[in-house]
Amino acid sequence: MNDRTITFIGGGNMARSLIGGLVADGYPADRIRVADPSEKHRDELTGRFGIRAYASNEEAADGAEAIVLAVKPQVVKTVAEPLGERIRAQGSVVISIAAGLREPDIRRWLGGDAAVVRTMPNTPSMVQTGATALYANANVTAEQRNLAESLLRAVGVTEWLDDEALMDAVTAVSGSGPAYFFLLMEMIEDAGVDLGLPREKARLLTLETALGAARMALESDETPARLRERVTSPNGTTDAALSTLEDGDVRALYGRALKAAAKRAQEIGDMLGEQ
Ligand SMILES: NC(=O)c1ccc[n+]([C@@H]2O[C@H](COP(=O)([O-])OP(=O)(O)OC[C@H]3O[C@@H](n4cnc5c(N)ncnc54)[C@H](OP(=O)(O)O)[C@@H]3O)[C@@H](O)[C@H]2O)c1
Repeated sequence: MNDRTITFIGGGNMARSLIGGLVADGYPADRIRVADPSEKHRDELTGRFGIRAYASNEEAADGAEAIVLAVKPQVVKTVAEPLGERIRAQGSVVISIAAGLREPDIRRWLGGDAAVVRTMPNTPSMVQTGATALYANANVTAEQRNLAESLLRAVGVTEWLDDEALMDAVTAVSGSGPAYFFLLMEMIEDAGVDLGLPREKARLLTLETALGAARMALESDETPARLRERVTSPNGTTDAALSTLEDGDVRALYGRALKAAAKRAQEIGDMLGEQ
């Protein structure tokens, strides 16, 4: 798999994370290319990763087995249309990381039956602990699926979806998810300060607790619900806190919040597809 050429169209934050992950995984730098209009970005990418950087998307895509669309969602149509003919002639797989953009729209802009993998990574990919969902259209071969999966696995865990409609739920859970946890950390830190802790200490204790709880949940065979029950003695301190949260209907609130995120993802997908 390491002899396939992967071209990134757009050399911004996400492309850098993915390229960094690939290089750290031992993917040969001479098999990775990037195209970006900014000379500054190109120089940085070449200097940092030793990969070839191009000003022309067409030149960068020439002969590549995989083309990663790593531009902002509203720019995808502009970059996909001129590349479509080449991509179909070469039989390259197109891997989109653009939030919200649907596979039929990307395929339409490529001008026909291209092999397209739509993915939804999240921001922790930047520190190699991302969670990405992938969806492949019917033109994607088993080998192309493997290539797309190994690319995203370089920055975290991957999950395949059979039904693209579930991407809106993924956006609500893991796409927007890091922000829910940031808010939780912010609130716990503030509550700790209200209880008299110095801010720095409250922050460190909060962040390490979040990390420890996530590690425990990942490494344990038990569900998060069971782990919570096991640390909640009747009438104890945790029980006092959790009862207060349940009294405030925190579960229903999270249900409504994620529904709102999924609905917004659907609306953004509709809007992007109308371009
Ligand atoms: N950041 C995240 O955590 C995250 C998470 C999930 C999905 N995504 C998706 O990842 C994609 C990239 O996001 P990002 O945060 O990496 O954005 P970004 O940092 O703005 O990167 C986009 C890059 O594409 C370049 N570009 C603009 N027009 C181009 C063109 N016509 N041809 C080639 N390159 C062009 C931009 O150059 P200029 O700066 O000069 O315009 C920039 O370097 C987006 O679609 C986003 O939805 C991001």
